[in-house]
Amino acid sequence: MPSRKDAESILVVDDAPETLEVLQRNLSGQGYRVLTAPSVEDAIRILKVETVDLVITDLKLPKISGMDLVRYVRENLTDTEVMMITGYPTVEGAVEAVKIGAEEFLAKPFTDEELFAAVKRSLDTLSTRRIRKAQTTSKLDNLCGLTGEGKAMLRIYDHISKAASTSATVLISGESGTGKELVARAIHYNSPRATAPFIPINCAGIPEGLFESELFGHRKGAFTGAISTRTGFFQAAEGGTIFLDEISETSPAMQVKLLRVLQDKEICMVGARQAEKVDVRIMAATNTDLKGLVEKSIFREDLFFRLNVISIQVPPLRERGDDILHLIHHFSAAYAQELDVPPPKFTRQAYQALRNYYWPGNVRELENVIQSVIVMTDDKEIDVSDLPQHMRFSIPEGSSIDKTLAQVEVDHIQLILNSVDGNKTQAAQILGIDRKTLREKLKKFSIET
Ligand SMILES: Nc1ncnc2c1ncn2[C@@H]1O[C@H](COP(=O)(O)OP(=O)(O)OP(=O)(O)O)[C@@H](O)[C@H]1O
Ligand SMILES: [Mg+2]
Repeated sequence: MPSRKDAESILVVDDAPETLEVLQRNLSGQGYRVLTAPSVEDAIRILKVETVDLVITDLKLPKISGMDLVRYVRENLTDTEVMMITGYPTVEGAVEAVKIGAEEFLAKPFTDEELFAAVKRSLDTLSTRRIRKAQTTSKLDNLCGLTGEGKAMLRIYDHISKAASTSATVLISGESGTGKELVARAIHYNSPRATAPFIPINCAGIPEGLFESELFGHRKGAFTGAISTRTGFFQAAEGGTIFLDEISETSPAMQVKLLRVLQDKEICMVGARQAEKVDVRIMAATNTDLKGLVEKSIFREDLFFRLNVISIQVPPLRERGDDILHLIHHFSAAYAQELDVPPPKFTRQAYQALRNYYWPGNVRELENVIQSVIVMTDDKEIDVSDLPQHMRFSIPEGSSIDKTLAQVEVDHIQLILNSVDGNKTQAAQILGIDRKTLREKLKKFSIET
């Protein structure tokens, strides 16, 4: 049977070439897409760049055992099953393998039928797990463009769905470009307010003197230039949601006014004598540590608590594991369609460089990079040399599973330094150490910059 285009993929890991060959032939014959690796190191290298549904690994492997591979898969990949095969079956071995997450344990010698049945059982488990996962996300009618299937995003979908069922104030925090505005939109458009407006306001973008009138409106003659009565964003958002982006940029005077809106659910137009009731949900976002600003008395504590009723932290892209690959595919497909070209392929090295890059600009930066490589590259396959220069260094030297702690430290420092073009201040900041400590480490490990 030829392998189908959407076939489930299986990675077989065994140090005996003849076993690899037999398993590859048999499983390909069943229509699966089969990849092979002779060692755990090679397997991990493949798993970093390929989507694999099932890993079948031998227990006894040179250097690193199959047990460690099972552990790696369970800790890093939420959407992959593992099956262990071994020539030396022991009850303890089987118990241990299943305990750390192997779905199946198959003792050699086994018949083809036993193998196929075990593979089918593993893949069925996977598909049940996927359906369950899809049910979590499908509670949301409209994801507003958010994509991702990793643990971090599933948690975000869950928060969105809970926040959408209430009208409580939400504070969304996260680095720049992580998707805070999309999260706010998704909450609004999945809530009973969905048919009323969602109005985003960039608090850093409105001049201080105009802020109050833009938000609450003004009466004719309220100030020089107020030639007619004009309503503000709050009246326009009636029944819906106001999204206050970069909330940390609001002045102390505006903070008091916003506090009043949150407490009394009413606003007062500039120049009006009477306040008016409004039904508007407020969400706010910040890419700075708002709590830290409260501690420094730059942001009002009472307003912080009023805003922070539901708190959602959007994690940086570098902490989303395989979702980076998912987003690369997502944006490649979207931009290729826009340009009416086939979606590009990436070499394994290019994937690794993209996967290991620090992504200070998060999803927005990734989106821009993918768009620019698609526009700029004529090659059918995108390689490391097609990526922006500062990303080309983020290819790791093999996996870290067989390295000493010191070596991992050296590699990581080197990687971060390369990703910021050798800028030590920036590197120290990313690494969470001060410049002096970084200098000492560079000297200790003789790292050239
Ligand atoms: N999970 C995601 N899936 C798809 N696209 C995303 C995702 N997260 C962010 N994006 C895209 O990345 C870009 C930035 O998202 P957004 O504006 O929501 O980020 P932000 O956190 O509000 O950024 P900033 O702090 O700079 O305002 C947008 O183009 C958005 O479509
Ligand atoms: Mg934003």
